[in-house]
Amino acid sequence: MIPCYNHFIMKTITVNLKEHSYNIFVGHGLLQNISNLIPAKYDKNPILIVTNPTVAKLHGEDLVKSLKRPKDEIHIIQIRDSERSKSFETYKRIIDDLQKIGQKTKPLLLAFGGGVVGDVSGFAAATYRRGIPYVQIPTTLLAQVDSSIGGKVAIDLPEAKNLVGAFYQPKAVICDLDVLKTLPLAEIKNGMGEIIKYALLYKNVKDINVGNLFADISDNLTNMFELKKECIETIVAKCAQIKAKVVELDEFDEKDKRIILNLGHTFAHAVESYFQYSKKYTHGECVALGMILASRVSLKMGKISNIKVVQIVEAIKRSGLLSVMPKGISSEIIKIMDYDKKFIDGKTRFVLPNDIGKVYVDETVPIDVIKQVIIESEK
Ligand code: NAD
Ligand code: GLY
Repeated sequence: MIPCYNHFIMKTITVNLKEHSYNIFVGHGLLQNISNLIPAKYDKNPILIVTNPTVAKLHGEDLVKSLKRPKDEIHIIQIRDSERSKSFETYKRIIDDLQKIGQKTKPLLLAFGGGVVGDVSGFAAATYRRGIPYVQIPTTLLAQVDSSIGGKVAIDLPEAKNLVGAFYQPKAVICDLDVLKTLPLAEIKNGMGEIIKYALLYKNVKDINVGNLFADISDNLTNMFELKKECIETIVAKCAQIKAKVVELDEFDEKDKRIILNLGHTFAHAVESYFQYSKKYTHGECVALGMILASRVSLKMGKISNIKVVQIVEAIKRSGLLSVMPKGISSEIIKIMDYDKKFIDGKTRFVLPNDIGKVYVDETVPIDVIKQVIIESEK
Protein backbone atom coordinates (compact mmCIF):
# COMPACT_ATOMS: atom_id res chain seq x y z
CA MET A 1 0.00 0.00 0.00
CA ILE A 2 1.38 3.37 -0.95
CA PRO A 3 0.60 6.26 1.40
CA CYS A 4 -0.01 9.36 -0.65
CA TYR A 5 -1.06 12.80 0.55
CA ASN A 6 -1.89 13.23 4.26
CA HIS A 7 -5.58 12.61 4.00
CA PHE A 8 -5.93 9.66 1.70
CA ILE A 9 -4.37 6.30 1.00
CA MET A 10 -4.25 4.56 -2.33
CA LYS A 11 -2.63 1.86 -4.40
CA THR A 12 -0.78 2.75 -7.58
CA ILE A 13 -0.32 0.38 -10.51
CA THR A 14 1.74 1.40 -13.50
CA VAL A 15 0.87 0.24 -17.00
CA ASN A 16 4.30 0.04 -18.62
CA LEU A 17 3.97 0.89 -22.31
CA LYS A 18 7.14 2.92 -22.94
CA GLU A 19 6.13 6.49 -23.85
CA HIS A 20 2.47 5.58 -23.39
CA SER A 21 2.90 4.41 -19.78
CA TYR A 22 0.46 5.64 -17.16
CA ASN A 23 -0.67 5.10 -13.60
CA ILE A 24 -3.86 3.55 -12.30
CA PHE A 25 -4.76 4.93 -8.87
CA VAL A 26 -7.11 2.88 -6.69
CA GLY A 27 -8.35 4.17 -3.35
CA HIS A 28 -10.96 6.01 -1.33
CA GLY A 29 -11.48 9.77 -1.44
CA LEU A 30 -9.61 10.19 -4.72
CA LEU A 31 -12.31 12.37 -6.28
CA GLN A 32 -11.67 14.99 -3.60
CA ASN A 33 -7.98 14.96 -4.52
CA ILE A 34 -8.23 14.75 -8.26
CA SER A 35 -6.06 17.79 -8.98
CA ASN A 36 -3.12 15.96 -7.36
CA LEU A 37 -3.64 12.85 -9.49
CA ILE A 38 -4.04 14.32 -12.97
CA PRO A 39 -0.51 14.68 -14.39
CA ALA A 40 0.69 18.22 -13.68
CA LYS A 41 1.74 18.81 -17.29
CA TYR A 42 -1.96 19.27 -18.15
CA ASP A 43 -2.52 22.01 -15.57
CA LYS A 44 -3.02 24.63 -18.28
CA ASN A 45 -5.13 22.65 -20.75
CA PRO A 46 -8.83 23.55 -20.86
CA ILE A 47 -10.92 20.66 -19.56
CA LEU A 48 -13.89 18.89 -21.10
CA ILE A 49 -15.65 16.54 -18.70
CA VAL A 50 -17.71 13.93 -20.51
CA THR A 51 -20.32 12.34 -18.25
CA ASN A 52 -24.00 11.40 -18.15
CA PRO A 53 -26.93 12.80 -16.12
CA THR A 54 -26.85 9.96 -13.55
CA VAL A 55 -23.19 10.37 -12.69
CA ALA A 56 -23.26 14.17 -12.99
CA LYS A 57 -26.10 14.39 -10.47
CA LEU A 58 -24.46 12.05 -7.96
CA HIS A 59 -20.80 13.05 -8.20
CA GLY A 60 -20.38 15.91 -10.67
CA GLU A 61 -20.12 18.67 -8.11
CA ASP A 62 -17.35 16.86 -6.19
CA LEU A 63 -15.32 16.46 -9.36
CA VAL A 64 -15.68 20.07 -10.51
CA LYS A 65 -14.85 21.43 -7.04
CA SER A 66 -11.75 19.32 -6.64
CA LEU A 67 -10.31 20.26 -10.03
CA LYS A 68 -9.50 23.66 -8.48
CA ARG A 69 -9.68 25.48 -11.79
CA PRO A 70 -11.36 28.76 -12.77
CA LYS A 71 -14.92 28.12 -13.98
CA ASP A 72 -14.19 29.15 -17.57
CA GLU A 73 -11.55 26.42 -17.91
CA ILE A 74 -14.02 23.61 -17.16
CA HIS A 75 -16.62 22.52 -19.70
CA ILE A 76 -19.08 19.70 -19.25
CA ILE A 77 -21.01 17.60 -21.72
CA GLN A 78 -23.65 15.14 -20.60
CA ILE A 79 -24.41 12.27 -22.94
CA ARG A 80 -27.43 9.97 -22.79
CA ASP A 81 -27.23 7.28 -20.12
CA SER A 82 -27.36 4.31 -22.50
CA GLU A 83 -25.27 1.97 -24.64
CA ARG A 84 -26.87 3.89 -27.53
CA SER A 85 -24.51 6.73 -26.71
CA LYS A 86 -21.69 4.73 -28.28
CA SER A 87 -22.81 6.24 -31.59
CA PHE A 88 -21.59 8.58 -34.32
CA GLU A 89 -24.13 11.14 -33.10
CA THR A 90 -22.71 11.31 -29.55
CA TYR A 91 -19.15 11.16 -30.88
CA LYS A 92 -19.90 14.21 -33.06
CA ARG A 93 -21.40 16.11 -30.12
CA ILE A 94 -18.22 15.54 -28.11
CA ILE A 95 -16.01 16.54 -31.05
CA ASP A 96 -18.07 19.73 -31.53
CA ASP A 97 -17.51 20.67 -27.89
CA LEU A 98 -13.80 19.90 -28.10
CA GLN A 99 -13.62 22.14 -31.17
CA LYS A 100 -15.35 24.98 -29.32
CA ILE A 101 -12.80 24.98 -26.51
CA GLY A 102 -9.72 23.46 -28.06
CA GLN A 103 -8.62 25.60 -30.96
CA LYS A 104 -5.65 27.22 -29.19
CA THR A 105 -4.54 24.57 -26.67
CA LYS A 106 -5.40 20.90 -26.94
CA PRO A 107 -8.10 20.20 -24.35
CA LEU A 108 -7.76 17.57 -21.63
CA LEU A 109 -10.75 15.24 -21.71
CA LEU A 110 -11.98 13.64 -18.49
CA ALA A 111 -14.11 10.54 -19.06
CA PHE A 112 -16.29 10.51 -15.94
CA GLY A 113 -18.69 7.56 -15.88
CA GLY A 114 -18.99 3.88 -16.69
CA GLY A 115 -17.71 2.01 -19.72
CA VAL A 116 -20.09 3.74 -22.12
CA VAL A 117 -18.76 7.19 -21.27
CA GLY A 118 -15.17 5.86 -21.24
CA ASP A 119 -15.43 4.15 -24.63
CA VAL A 120 -17.09 6.93 -26.64
CA SER A 121 -15.16 9.82 -25.10
CA GLY A 122 -11.90 7.88 -25.35
CA PHE A 123 -12.62 7.44 -29.05
CA ALA A 124 -13.24 11.18 -29.41
CA ALA A 125 -9.94 11.84 -27.59
CA ALA A 126 -8.14 9.39 -29.89
CA THR A 127 -9.29 11.14 -33.04
CA TYR A 128 -9.76 14.86 -32.33
CA ARG A 129 -6.67 16.69 -33.63
CA ARG A 130 -5.08 13.23 -34.11
CA GLY A 131 -5.22 12.65 -30.38
CA ILE A 132 -5.62 14.73 -27.25
CA PRO A 133 -4.81 13.73 -23.67
CA TYR A 134 -7.55 12.07 -21.67
CA VAL A 135 -7.95 10.67 -18.18
CA GLN A 136 -10.34 7.89 -17.25
CA ILE A 137 -12.29 8.46 -14.01
CA PRO A 138 -14.38 5.26 -14.00
CA THR A 139 -17.45 5.22 -11.77
CA THR A 140 -18.73 1.63 -12.19
CA LEU A 141 -17.07 -1.47 -10.78
CA LEU A 142 -16.84 -2.91 -14.29
CA ALA A 143 -15.17 0.22 -15.64
CA GLN A 144 -12.72 0.34 -12.71
CA VAL A 145 -11.49 -3.21 -13.19
CA ASP A 146 -11.78 -3.45 -16.95
CA SER A 147 -12.93 -0.91 -19.51
CA SER A 148 -10.97 2.13 -18.28
CA ILE A 149 -7.66 0.24 -18.54
CA GLY A 150 -5.90 -0.71 -21.74
CA GLY A 151 -6.91 1.91 -24.27
CA LYS A 152 -9.63 0.07 -26.21
CA VAL A 153 -11.99 2.87 -27.19
CA ALA A 154 -14.93 2.55 -29.56
CA ILE A 155 -18.43 3.24 -30.73
CA ASP A 156 -20.98 0.70 -31.97
CA LEU A 157 -22.51 0.03 -35.39
CA PRO A 158 -25.99 -1.46 -35.82
CA GLU A 159 -24.32 -4.72 -36.92
CA ALA A 160 -22.26 -5.17 -33.73
CA LYS A 161 -20.71 -3.43 -30.76
CA ASN A 162 -17.32 -1.69 -30.82
CA LEU A 163 -16.86 -1.98 -34.60
CA VAL A 164 -15.40 1.53 -34.98
CA GLY A 165 -12.56 2.18 -32.58
CA ALA A 166 -8.91 2.56 -31.74
CA PHE A 167 -6.24 1.66 -29.25
CA TYR A 168 -5.52 4.89 -27.41
CA GLN A 169 -4.13 4.90 -23.89
CA PRO A 170 -5.27 7.38 -21.23
CA LYS A 171 -2.80 9.52 -19.30
CA ALA A 172 -4.10 8.18 -15.97
CA VAL A 173 -6.92 6.06 -14.59
CA ILE A 174 -8.36 7.28 -11.29
CA CYS A 175 -10.57 4.75 -9.48
CA ASP A 176 -12.29 6.31 -6.48
CA LEU A 177 -13.95 3.42 -4.67
CA ASP A 178 -16.27 5.80 -2.78
CA VAL A 179 -18.27 6.50 -5.94
CA LEU A 180 -19.23 2.81 -6.10
CA LYS A 181 -21.47 3.33 -3.03
CA THR A 182 -24.18 4.83 -5.24
CA LEU A 183 -24.18 1.91 -7.70
CA PRO A 184 -27.28 -0.28 -7.84
CA LEU A 185 -26.77 -3.95 -6.91
CA ALA A 186 -27.11 -5.03 -10.55
CA GLU A 187 -24.06 -2.94 -11.43
CA ILE A 188 -22.03 -4.44 -8.57
CA LYS A 189 -22.92 -7.89 -9.93
CA ASN A 190 -21.93 -6.70 -13.39
CA GLY A 191 -18.45 -5.89 -12.12
CA MET A 192 -18.27 -9.09 -10.04
CA GLY A 193 -18.53 -11.22 -13.18
CA GLU A 194 -15.36 -9.63 -14.56
CA ILE A 195 -13.63 -9.80 -11.16
CA ILE A 196 -14.21 -13.57 -10.97
CA LYS A 197 -12.88 -13.77 -14.52
CA TYR A 198 -9.56 -12.22 -13.43
CA ALA A 199 -9.38 -14.73 -10.58
CA LEU A 200 -9.54 -17.57 -13.10
CA LEU A 201 -6.76 -16.13 -15.25
CA TYR A 202 -3.82 -16.03 -12.84
CA LYS A 203 -2.80 -17.57 -9.54
CA ASN A 204 0.53 -17.32 -7.71
CA VAL A 205 2.39 -16.13 -10.80
CA LYS A 206 5.79 -14.58 -10.11
CA ASP A 207 5.58 -11.38 -12.16
CA ILE A 208 1.89 -10.73 -11.40
CA ASN A 209 1.92 -10.61 -7.67
CA VAL A 210 -1.76 -11.17 -6.96
CA GLY A 211 -1.48 -14.41 -4.96
CA ASN A 212 -4.60 -16.54 -4.97
CA LEU A 213 -7.23 -14.01 -6.03
CA PHE A 214 -9.88 -16.72 -6.39
CA ALA A 215 -9.47 -17.68 -2.71
CA ASP A 216 -9.50 -13.98 -1.69
CA ILE A 217 -12.76 -13.45 -3.54
CA SER A 218 -14.40 -16.69 -2.38
CA ASP A 219 -13.56 -15.82 1.25
CA ASN A 220 -14.82 -12.24 0.94
CA LEU A 221 -17.98 -12.30 -1.14
CA THR A 222 -20.11 -10.52 1.47
CA ASN A 223 -17.40 -7.93 2.11
CA MET A 224 -17.13 -7.34 -1.63
CA PHE A 225 -20.85 -6.77 -2.07
CA GLU A 226 -20.82 -4.47 0.97
CA LEU A 227 -17.85 -2.62 -0.54
CA LYS A 228 -15.84 -3.04 2.69
CA LYS A 229 -12.97 -0.60 2.45
CA GLU A 230 -9.81 -2.74 2.68
CA CYS A 231 -11.37 -5.61 0.78
CA ILE A 232 -12.69 -3.70 -2.23
CA GLU A 233 -9.46 -1.73 -2.48
CA THR A 234 -7.29 -4.84 -2.49
CA ILE A 235 -9.42 -6.72 -4.98
CA VAL A 236 -9.96 -3.86 -7.45
CA ALA A 237 -6.21 -3.13 -7.33
CA LYS A 238 -5.36 -6.79 -7.99
CA CYS A 239 -7.73 -6.92 -10.95
CA ALA A 240 -6.24 -3.70 -12.31
CA GLN A 241 -2.79 -5.23 -11.89
CA ILE A 242 -3.80 -8.28 -13.95
CA LYS A 243 -5.41 -6.17 -16.67
CA ALA A 244 -2.34 -3.90 -16.76
CA LYS A 245 -0.02 -6.89 -17.16
CA VAL A 246 -2.06 -8.45 -19.96
CA VAL A 247 -2.19 -5.10 -21.79
CA GLU A 248 1.57 -4.72 -21.40
CA LEU A 249 2.05 -8.16 -22.98
CA ASP A 250 -0.20 -7.41 -25.96
CA GLU A 251 -1.22 -3.76 -26.22
CA PHE A 252 -2.76 -4.11 -29.69
CA ASP A 253 -4.42 -7.50 -29.22
CA GLU A 254 -2.31 -9.16 -31.89
CA LYS A 255 0.03 -11.48 -29.98
CA ASP A 256 -2.51 -14.00 -28.73
CA LYS A 257 -2.11 -12.78 -25.12
CA ARG A 258 -4.89 -10.23 -24.64
CA ILE A 259 -7.42 -12.76 -25.91
CA ILE A 260 -7.44 -14.42 -22.47
CA LEU A 261 -9.51 -11.47 -21.24
CA ASN A 262 -12.31 -12.98 -23.33
CA LEU A 263 -12.76 -15.92 -20.95
CA GLY A 264 -16.51 -16.59 -20.79
CA HIS A 265 -17.23 -13.90 -23.37
CA THR A 266 -18.02 -16.08 -26.41
CA PHE A 267 -20.96 -17.69 -24.63
CA ALA A 268 -21.82 -14.40 -22.88
CA HIS A 269 -22.15 -12.52 -26.17
CA ALA A 270 -24.55 -15.15 -27.51
CA VAL A 271 -26.76 -14.85 -24.40
CA GLU A 272 -26.59 -11.03 -24.41
CA SER A 273 -27.37 -11.02 -28.09
CA TYR A 274 -30.38 -13.34 -27.56
CA PHE A 275 -31.75 -10.84 -25.02
CA GLN A 276 -30.82 -7.97 -27.40
CA TYR A 277 -28.49 -6.44 -24.85
CA SER A 278 -31.49 -5.56 -22.67
CA LYS A 279 -31.10 -5.02 -18.93
CA LYS A 280 -32.50 -8.51 -18.20
CA TYR A 281 -29.03 -9.84 -17.49
CA THR A 282 -25.95 -7.64 -17.17
CA HIS A 283 -22.80 -8.33 -19.17
CA GLY A 284 -21.02 -9.53 -16.02
CA GLU A 285 -23.79 -12.00 -15.22
CA CYS A 286 -23.59 -13.41 -18.74
CA VAL A 287 -19.79 -13.64 -18.46
CA ALA A 288 -20.31 -15.63 -15.25
CA LEU A 289 -22.52 -18.13 -17.06
CA GLY A 290 -20.02 -18.13 -19.92
CA MET A 291 -17.21 -19.08 -17.52
CA ILE A 292 -19.26 -22.00 -16.21
CA LEU A 293 -19.85 -23.21 -19.77
CA ALA A 294 -16.18 -22.73 -20.63
CA SER A 295 -15.19 -24.80 -17.57
CA ARG A 296 -17.57 -27.59 -18.61
CA VAL A 297 -16.23 -27.56 -22.16
CA SER A 298 -12.74 -27.87 -20.71
CA LEU A 299 -13.93 -30.74 -18.49
CA LYS A 300 -15.34 -32.59 -21.49
CA MET A 301 -12.05 -32.03 -23.31
CA GLY A 302 -10.27 -33.63 -20.34
CA LYS A 303 -8.32 -30.47 -19.51
CA ILE A 304 -9.64 -29.57 -16.04
CA SER A 305 -10.67 -31.65 -13.05
CA ASN A 306 -14.27 -31.91 -11.93
CA ILE A 307 -13.41 -30.56 -8.48
CA LYS A 308 -12.14 -27.29 -9.99
CA VAL A 309 -15.26 -26.95 -12.10
CA VAL A 310 -17.40 -27.43 -9.00
CA GLN A 311 -15.41 -24.71 -7.19
CA ILE A 312 -15.90 -22.29 -10.09
CA VAL A 313 -19.64 -22.97 -10.28
CA GLU A 314 -19.98 -22.60 -6.49
CA ALA A 315 -18.23 -19.21 -6.42
CA ILE A 316 -20.48 -17.95 -9.20
CA LYS A 317 -23.62 -19.29 -7.52
CA ARG A 318 -22.65 -17.75 -4.17
CA SER A 319 -22.14 -14.40 -5.91
CA GLY A 320 -25.74 -14.51 -7.11
CA LEU A 321 -24.64 -14.35 -10.73
CA LEU A 322 -26.17 -16.28 -13.61
CA SER A 323 -25.26 -19.96 -13.21
CA VAL A 324 -27.81 -21.75 -15.41
CA MET A 325 -28.88 -21.14 -18.98
CA PRO A 326 -32.34 -19.50 -18.95
CA LYS A 327 -34.96 -22.13 -19.81
CA GLY A 328 -35.88 -22.84 -23.42
CA ILE A 329 -33.21 -20.76 -25.16
CA SER A 330 -30.47 -23.34 -25.79
CA SER A 331 -31.27 -23.96 -29.45
CA GLU A 332 -31.31 -20.22 -30.16
CA ILE A 333 -27.98 -19.75 -28.34
CA ILE A 334 -26.47 -22.52 -30.47
CA LYS A 335 -27.77 -20.80 -33.62
CA ILE A 336 -26.30 -17.44 -32.56
CA MET A 337 -22.91 -19.02 -31.83
CA ASP A 338 -22.99 -20.77 -35.19
CA TYR A 339 -23.81 -17.47 -36.91
CA ASP A 340 -20.96 -15.67 -35.12
CA LYS A 341 -18.57 -18.43 -36.14
CA LYS A 342 -19.57 -18.35 -39.81
CA PHE A 343 -19.92 -14.62 -40.32
CA ILE A 344 -17.59 -12.97 -37.88
CA ASP A 345 -14.51 -15.06 -37.17
CA GLY A 346 -14.68 -18.12 -39.42
CA LYS A 347 -13.67 -20.14 -36.40
CA THR A 348 -14.39 -19.82 -32.71
CA ARG A 349 -11.39 -19.50 -30.45
CA PHE A 350 -12.41 -20.45 -26.95
CA VAL A 351 -10.51 -19.35 -23.87
CA LEU A 352 -10.89 -22.24 -21.43
CA PRO A 353 -9.69 -22.75 -17.87
CA ASN A 354 -7.45 -25.75 -17.20
CA ASP A 355 -7.12 -24.88 -13.53
CA ILE A 356 -8.26 -22.09 -11.23
CA GLY A 357 -5.82 -19.39 -12.25
CA LYS A 358 -4.75 -20.85 -15.59
CA VAL A 359 -6.34 -20.72 -19.05
CA TYR A 360 -5.56 -21.90 -22.59
CA VAL A 361 -6.88 -21.05 -26.02
CA ASP A 362 -8.52 -23.75 -28.16
CA GLU A 363 -10.00 -23.33 -31.63
CA THR A 364 -10.64 -27.01 -32.20
CA VAL A 365 -13.48 -27.63 -29.77
CA PRO A 366 -15.98 -29.89 -31.60
CA ILE A 367 -19.34 -28.26 -32.15
CA ASP A 368 -21.05 -31.27 -30.53
CA VAL A 369 -19.24 -30.56 -27.26
CA ILE A 370 -20.41 -26.94 -27.34
CA LYS A 371 -23.99 -27.97 -28.07
CA GLN A 372 -24.00 -30.59 -25.33
CA VAL A 373 -22.64 -28.17 -22.73
CA ILE A 374 -25.20 -25.50 -23.65
CA ILE A 375 -28.13 -27.94 -23.51
CA GLU A 376 -26.95 -29.46 -20.21
CA SER A 377 -26.68 -25.99 -18.67
CA GLU A 378 -30.39 -25.20 -19.02
CA LYS A 379 -32.51 -24.85 -15.90
P1 NAD B 1 -22.50 1.92 -18.19
O1 NAD B 1 -21.44 2.84 -18.57
O2 NAD B 1 -23.73 1.88 -19.01
O3 NAD B 1 -22.88 2.14 -16.66
C1 NAD B 1 -23.89 1.35 -16.06
C2 NAD B 1 -24.93 2.21 -15.33
O4 NAD B 1 -24.38 2.68 -14.11
C3 NAD B 1 -25.36 3.43 -16.11
O5 NAD B 1 -26.74 3.62 -15.96
C4 NAD B 1 -24.59 4.55 -15.41
O6 NAD B 1 -25.21 5.81 -15.52
C5 NAD B 1 -24.61 4.08 -14.01
N1 NAD B 1 -23.56 4.61 -13.15
C6 NAD B 1 -22.26 4.83 -13.47
N2 NAD B 1 -21.57 5.17 -12.38
C7 NAD B 1 -22.44 5.23 -11.36
C8 NAD B 1 -22.34 5.50 -9.97
N3 NAD B 1 -21.15 5.75 -9.41
N4 NAD B 1 -23.45 5.44 -9.21
C9 NAD B 1 -24.66 5.12 -9.75
N5 NAD B 1 -24.82 4.82 -11.05
C10 NAD B 1 -23.72 4.88 -11.83
O7 NAD B 1 -21.96 0.40 -18.16
P2 NAD B 1 -20.57 -0.25 -17.77
O8 NAD B 1 -20.90 -1.63 -17.38
O9 NAD B 1 -19.78 0.59 -16.87
O10 NAD B 1 -19.80 -0.29 -19.17
C11 NAD B 1 -20.32 -1.04 -20.25
C12 NAD B 1 -19.63 -0.59 -21.52
O11 NAD B 1 -18.24 -0.83 -21.38
C13 NAD B 1 -20.08 -1.35 -22.75
O12 NAD B 1 -20.33 -0.45 -23.78
C14 NAD B 1 -18.89 -2.23 -23.09
O13 NAD B 1 -18.78 -2.48 -24.47
C15 NAD B 1 -17.75 -1.39 -22.59
N6 NAD B 1 -16.53 -2.14 -22.26
C16 NAD B 1 -15.37 -1.71 -22.77
C17 NAD B 1 -14.20 -2.36 -22.47
C18 NAD B 1 -12.91 -1.81 -22.98
O14 NAD B 1 -11.87 -2.47 -22.86
N7 NAD B 1 -12.90 -0.62 -23.54
C19 NAD B 1 -14.20 -3.48 -21.63
C20 NAD B 1 -15.42 -3.90 -21.11
C21 NAD B 1 -16.59 -3.23 -21.42
N1 GLY C 1 -11.90 -5.97 -22.40
C1 GLY C 1 -11.04 -6.70 -23.26
C2 GLY C 1 -9.74 -6.01 -23.54
O1 GLY C 1 -9.46 -4.97 -23.01
O2 GLY C 1 -8.97 -6.49 -24.32
